[in-house]
Amino acid sequence: MKKLTLADVKSNPYVDNFIRQTEKYLIALGYTDHGFRHVGIVSQRCMDLAKQLGLSQHDQELAGIVGYCHDMANFLGRTQHHYWAAMLFSQIFIPEYEPEDVSRVCQAIVSHDKDDLRIVDKLSAVLILADKSDVHRSRVIDSGAKDFDQDIHDRVNYAATGNSLTVDRKKKYVTLKIQIDTKQAEPIDYFEIFIDRMSFCRLAAEFLGYKFVLVINNFRLS
Ligand SMILES: [Fe+2]
Ligand SMILES: [Fe+2]
Repeated sequence: MKKLTLADVKSNPYVDNFIRQTEKYLIALGYTDHGFRHVGIVSQRCMDLAKQLGLSQHDQELAGIVGYCHDMANFLGRTQHHYWAAMLFSQIFIPEYEPEDVSRVCQAIVSHDKDDLRIVDKLSAVLILADKSDVHRSRVIDSGAKDFDQDIHDRVNYAATGNSLTVDRKKKYVTLKIQIDTKQAEPIDYFEIFIDRMSFCRLAAEFLGYKFVLVINNFRLS
């Protein structure tokens, strides 16, 4: 049995096609980006976080994999896409790869959008923080499928002109900083949309032994 590597996962034609189909489907729906742009950013952010948190080399690799694959089942539908992604992942990789690697990756993928969330693995915590922090205007897809101004998700993402996620290992803070263009959306809009995301981030940071801090336009909110 082989250990999972990010290179093997990225070069797998099924993974590639699932993400491609997801891009097509969500463009058709006019939904924010969950394709190669998003999973590329989340994958890199997962690896950076894992490294900063002092996870092992192999766990850094697995963190990159969970980031890359977490949204690949959106082409089957938004609802339960986290479960579908884990099922697809296991179908592809079970035959040849380490059982522990596959099971940890599947569990982390499912955790990124689970209602009754209980985090039991650092991979899940890292993915949640990396995924929920990708709030940026480049995620907004203008497909003409719906009125941009009517959709608060688009409005808030479009208003976000910058974000950064940093780890302070001494003070034990994980800090998400977001720059919001208040001409496009007020910070209160952000809360309306992202309150669930923030509680996910808080749980994830706590599991890692950190406090989650959210800063919007240099104003510390937690
Ligand atoms: Fe997702
Ligand atoms: Fe995502």
